[in-house]
Amino acid sequence: MAYYRRVGDVPRTRHTAFRDEAGALHYEELMGEEGFSSDSSLLYHRGVPSAIVDSQVWELPDLATQANHPLRPRHLKLHDQAPAGDPVTGRRLVLGNADVRIGYVVSGETSAWYRDAVGDECVYVEQGSGTVETVFGALSYRTGDFVVVPRATTHRWVPAEQSRLYAIESSSHVAPPRRYLSRYGQLLEHAPYCERDLHGPTEPLLLDGDGASDVEVLVKHRGHGPGGIVGTRLTYATHPLDVVGWDGCLYPYTFNVEDFMPITGKVHQPPPVHQVFEAGGFVVCAFCPRKVDYHPQSVPVPYYHSNVDSDEVMFYVGGDYEARKGSGIGIGSVSLHPGGHAHGPQPSAIEASIGAEHFDELAVMVDTFRPLELGEVALAVEDPAYAWTWAGRGPDHP
Ligand SMILES: [Fe+2]
Repeated sequence: MAYYRRVGDVPRTRHTAFRDEAGALHYEELMGEEGFSSDSSLLYHRGVPSAIVDSQVWELPDLATQANHPLRPRHLKLHDQAPAGDPVTGRRLVLGNADVRIGYVVSGETSAWYRDAVGDECVYVEQGSGTVETVFGALSYRTGDFVVVPRATTHRWVPAEQSRLYAIESSSHVAPPRRYLSRYGQLLEHAPYCERDLHGPTEPLLLDGDGASDVEVLVKHRGHGPGGIVGTRLTYATHPLDVVGWDGCLYPYTFNVEDFMPITGKVHQPPPVHQVFEAGGFVVCAFCPRKVDYHPQSVPVPYYHSNVDSDEVMFYVGGDYEARKGSGIGIGSVSLHPGGHAHGPQPSAIEASIGAEHFDELAVMVDTFRPLELGEVALAVEDPAYAWTWAGRGPDHP
């Protein structure tokens, strides 16, 4: 995030003594990316942010994966299994590789305090509303939000209602696509969204009153576990949400998919026009309701494509997905179209789409540059007939 934000009280000059009304010093913390060479914020704590009194193993949910071998496109009926638990510890792995893990949970429970030290999290709210309480302040969330939480941000989820959360956990940073940014980081006019659409915290959130002590924070971090990830349960002497103010360009924010302004054309536009974020080894796109191609002979659904460098994951969250007619895919479905296999519409969808002026589809796509493997949810909810729907027959569907 290249946009400076200031919340609460900060001293006039950085790195100078900053005291409360009783004369007690605040403790300054720099949260910065890429060493000291990228975006950062300065936070002012009432307690010491390093003061831990215990460290124990946190056993993570199952992160084991199985290769997509023999290779085939997959259809996962995510709504057939609704992983329960809280929005953090209840997440179950759908698909993953070394760059990104996609988890899913349906929950109305308040989560544990948590931070992901592996990478930024980009959680798509399929349905629901509530608050994400963070060390930078609170974010309200609602259906259609991408909630972007930078690496190592202490936070918890407080759903106001049952929430369906599709958690895209990166091993890097999640940011607007570079091509949409000016050389100093402002979103350019041709970008499909702008700074006004990004919503960060507006005031401090102080939960360290009344002598709150011995607060547990679950930390997901790099180590020798499945996927190179392990968990630790740290206990803090005082409550970590004790920041009276902060400023800088690193903070959590939300972006609602309704604020994405689709880029359309005379003929079919390729998936990069739908891109919302980029990260190390993958991108995130949103296919939103839109007017479609206005050439009189245009075919609005995609041509077959062999995206030779990537695996493509679509999560179908709204509308009627034109290109997938006849495939069994519906709301709540996830499709995985791997590199090495050309994919595109089911044949009947092509003719049916000619002359269409509007698509009401809504889908979130993650395109990865390394192959994805199948997590426990994928293995539990796969529709085994999907791979054969283009041909109309297969080994178990003659
Ligand atoms: Fe595709």
